[in-house]
Amino acid sequence: MKDRRWFTLWGLAALLLSGLAIATPPTAKRGSSQFVQTDGASFIVNGSKFRYVGTNAYWLPVLNTEQDIWNTLGNISAIGAKVVRLWAFNDVTTTPSDGTWFQLVQNGKVSINDGPNGLQKLDTVIQMAEQHGLYVIMTLTNNWYPTASNSTGSSLQARGGTTEITLPRNYLSNDYGGMDLYVRQFGLQYHDQFYTDEKIVKAFKNFTSQVVTRYVNSPAVFSWELANDPRCSSTLPMSGSCTTETITQWHATMAAYIRSIDPNHLISSGNQGYMCTDCAKLYPLNPAPAPQPSPAPGSKKRSVPVSSEQILRKRAESRRLNRRAAKLAGKLKEDGIRVRGRWAATATRRQQSQEVGTAYDGSYGVDSQDILNIPDISFGTFQLFPDQDTYAASDPSLSSYQNMVNSGVDWITNQAQSAAAVGKPLIMTAFGLVTQSNAADFVPFNMTTAPYATNTSYGATNQEQTDAYSTWLSTSVSLNLAGMIQYQWGQESLTAETGTTISPGVTGITPSSDSTGTSQSNDTTGVSPNDGYSSYGT
Ligand SMILES: *[C@@H]1O[C@H](CO)[C@@H](O)[C@H](O)[C@H]1NC(C)=O
Ligand SMILES: *[C@@H]1O[C@H](CO)[C@@H](O)[C@H](O)[C@H]1NC(C)=O
Ligand SMILES: *[C@@H]1O[C@H](CO)[C@@H](O)[C@H](O)[C@H]1NC(C)=O
Ligand SMILES: *[C@@H]1O[C@H](CO)[C@@H](O)[C@H](O)[C@H]1NC(C)=O
Ligand SMILES: *[C@@H]1O[C@H](CO)[C@@H](O)[C@H](O)[C@H]1NC(C)=O
Ligand SMILES: *[C@@H]1O[C@H](CO)[C@@H](O)[C@H](O)[C@H]1NC(C)=O
Ligand SMILES: *[C@@H]1O[C@H](CO)[C@@H](O)[C@H](O)[C@H]1NC(C)=O
Repeated sequence: MKDRRWFTLWGLAALLLSGLAIATPPTAKRGSSQFVQTDGASFIVNGSKFRYVGTNAYWLPVLNTEQDIWNTLGNISAIGAKVVRLWAFNDVTTTPSDGTWFQLVQNGKVSINDGPNGLQKLDTVIQMAEQHGLYVIMTLTNNWYPTASNSTGSSLQARGGTTEITLPRNYLSNDYGGMDLYVRQFGLQYHDQFYTDEKIVKAFKNFTSQVVTRYVNSPAVFSWELANDPRCSSTLPMSGSCTTETITQWHATMAAYIRSIDPNHLISSGNQGYMCTDCAKLYPLNPAPAPQPSPAPGSKKRSVPVSSEQILRKRAESRRLNRRAAKLAGKLKEDGIRVRGRWAATATRRQQSQEVGTAYDGSYGVDSQDILNIPDISFGTFQLFPDQDTYAASDPSLSSYQNMVNSGVDWITNQAQSAAAVGKPLIMTAFGLVTQSNAADFVPFNMTTAPYATNTSYGATNQEQTDAYSTWLSTSVSLNLAGMIQYQWGQESLTAETGTTISPGVTGITPSSDSTGTSQSNDTTGVSPNDGYSSYGT
């Protein structure tokens, strides 16, 4: 069964946003540029505020026909989405005989493919997006490229056990090249050398300049996103010297470079939103003005950055409340230690430490607030993937589902506070929750295997996914997020061609009953790549 429920929710979110848009009169402040601009915490287009829901379709440029690209963008536009996020990179290490590719990176040398199976495919996507009234977030590289060898295509273990299937190149979001591909091909060993090695930085600027100058005058480009989920580590290990400053400095360098060649478009990071509450900043916030003696009723308090003290205090508070509520409802989870007939401190509770956790302590080498305060970074980005990332320790009084929903709400809330302290717009560039029906196709970004392919109880129910999305979207809308982008779009009835991403008979990681996933059938239609999050449109 294809999952379609997202689109009902989407309609609701779009409606909610359009209601808000009507309530805000056009602003003349930034003129009426067709290019997306920012004004404080808002985006402005054509002189009006622009808030949106959008979707991810990293694979748009690899589709086989213009008609497929046209139909997909038409379907995306038809449900009310305004922004689509995609991969504007596609690196290979040898020239493939079929399919789309943008850049050959081989033994420290690069060359760019601007032919019909190269950047001209991206041209088509951008032109058609504009015709459909869609804006495109163009991601320039990826933190993730978990390939063990130089061969192309991902090998995956399918549901039911032991068969290895090889998916076509570009089927997974982490199979488009990216940072680790550069590092390997430049003869280096650490992931973070992507950010610091002069030759790699030069090559990445070179690729960036060719893409950016190609679309410098296109109003359909929403923003240049420097990288998907940039961090200190990936499949390749990190060196001993990568810190949050390494990543922040790279952002500053790249953002200034893009600004020097493109005065028109916004520039964003693409990071997950990881914070480092106690890190020194390369780009400190301006000191907050002295508080007003008596703020007028309804006037907004000045936002302050997220602090460790605040995270720990709120966490303890909500644990106390949840525990009390669970007790009252007679539902306190019996995973604690029995002390004189009462359920007392649980294992998790005892572990509750004075540590904010990896999402807030700089463990990943990312300080999203420092990055956001770089002058050339136009707005904030974060992602929400509770199947893959841990945002907070679980509260033992709650079910794992409720913990997951709550950790998403806390994550969105803290991101909103952090962005408000900087005073720039904030968008959630990707969010998703794996359902049971998608579990067999779920491949985490750092893997090439489907770890839950044989686990029939993995994943949320459809209702749980709907409820979680609804909670996260309403939290995002109420906290003034400027954009929310679902992961990921699913499209059916695509033209299949042997040797390309959309190959005959490839219907996903799970082999369909009449195919092994890679076998040739005479079926000429295919479905879009799915990492385990696809929702299908019309
Ligand atoms: C949606 O895609 C289908 C092909 O799958 C196409 O026939 C239809 O015209 C598209 N709808 C829109 C509104 O573009
Ligand atoms: C930049 O890209 C061009 C075109 O692909 C290539 O010929 C050139 O060698 C690259 N320059 C650097 C410094 O990588
Ligand atoms: C801005 O105006 C252009 C040109 O009229 C139009 O194509 C585009 O869809 C408008 N954008 C928004 C968000 O209204
Ligand atoms: C991948 O290619 C590089 C450069 O061509 C080579 O040095 C390396 O040994 C290859 N690695 C594997 C696992 O084949
Ligand atoms: C991928 O990341 C998850 C956490 O999301 C971790 O548990 C797992 O070990 C990682 N796998 C690899 C192959 O790095
Ligand atoms: C299967 O998934 C469920 C739900 O996430 C989990 O509790 C269980 O440990 C998993 N089983 C295996 C064998 O991975
Ligand atoms: C597929 O098409 C070929 C000819 O192009 C034909 O020989 C073969 O029988 C067809 N197979 C099926 C399953 O229809």
